[in-house]
Amino acid sequence: MDIKELSLVNFRNYDRLDITFDQKINIFIGNNAQGKTSLLESIYFLAISKSHKTHKDKELIKFDQEFTKVSAKLLDDDDFKRLNLILSRSGKKALINNVEKTKMSDYIGAFNVVMFAPEDLNIVKGSPQVRRKFIDVEIGQISPIYISELNTYNKILRQRNELLKQMDYRTKQDTSFLDVLTEQLSDVAYKIIIRRIDFIKKLNHYANNLHRFISGHKEELIINYQCSIKYDDSHDLSRESIYKQYTDKYQSDLYKGTTSLGPHRDDLLFSVNNLDVSSFGSQGQQRTTALSTKLSLIDFIKDETGKFPIVLLDDVLSELDDLRQTQLLDCIKEKVQTFVTTTNISGIKSDLLDKSSIFYIENSNIFVK
Ligand SMILES: Nc1ncnc2c1ncn2[C@@H]1O[C@H](COP(=O)(O)OP(=O)(O)OP(=O)(O)O)[C@@H](O)[C@H]1O
Ligand SMILES: [Mg+2]
Repeated sequence: MDIKELSLVNFRNYDRLDITFDQKINIFIGNNAQGKTSLLESIYFLAISKSHKTHKDKELIKFDQEFTKVSAKLLDDDDFKRLNLILSRSGKKALINNVEKTKMSDYIGAFNVVMFAPEDLNIVKGSPQVRRKFIDVEIGQISPIYISELNTYNKILRQRNELLKQMDYRTKQDTSFLDVLTEQLSDVAYKIIIRRIDFIKKLNHYANNLHRFISGHKEELIINYQCSIKYDDSHDLSRESIYKQYTDKYQSDLYKGTTSLGPHRDDLLFSVNNLDVSSFGSQGQQRTTALSTKLSLIDFIKDETGKFPIVLLDDVLSELDDLRQTQLLDCIKEKVQTFVTTTNISGIKSDLLDKSSIFYIENSNIFVK
């Protein structure tokens, strides 16, 4: 899957941009604040329908404008596909080959992306919320139904928390409505956890191999799913076992007025050579962990969907040493269309430059070298 043409209207600092691509690797060079990240963000937005930087969609619309539009012509094997994503104050409109998709879940997945940006270090160092977002975006890309399951979960969770706050924990209460909500919550929590277990198992497989290679066979990366619902050989995972764990917590949930268990409390733990890398890893180990986790998505997505994703590398290439740049190239293997941004061309290996298209970005104008 390759982007052949990309058009932007009123996206961030771009008024209008029309650009064509004929190489696998495309490198954008520009000073700070010229529009490099915005360009990659537009591709990410076209794939996921959200920004990687903000949850406030309207920040993507150029200041003082009413709407933004991102369009692309994609080459999928021998077929062309045209995508349009329009964002205005009244919401989003998504079209594939000029046919509007009324449900976003029918649109997402038209093509997949893997973005690697400096803030991805937060997958390792940041809060559990960052790691949950990572899991959710990646599963959602390949299984859009997961996004509606998450929405349902969050809706029931909000209702349940409201109810917990209203009920008085000091007196004996009729729990029949709480039971109903808990049953509904257990049902959808089960679906979410099953998908997360499967995703993390596969991610581990790819990330483990990559990390071993990048570290010169010195380091073993293991990604552990820290599920707040207990399951193991002695606690089988089922809707019933989840329901039981929620009901066991009724008293303390009523006391706190909030739901203390479930997918909204899950986390990931990254260990390198059996040490928690967020607490004990060196900066380099943390960066390698984030890199191998992110790059492992290339093969993961290929195996899940049959197609390689488009890779977006924002300002990270010149930070990688030669070995890691080589490893990255190996993952891309000239099969994956890749968009790279940098402020400084001198940090990029010459054999990579030789097989790339090079563009210069200056104040939201793009020039071909
Ligand atoms: N909604 C918007 N409307 C207009 N301009 C915006 C909007 N959002 C951001 N900008 C501006 O767009 C410019 C380009 O931002 P961008 O993040 O793409 O820069 P960059 O080339 O990646 O820079 P750096 O090298 O510092 O990362 C910035 O000056 C930013 O303030
Ligand atoms: Mg930038």
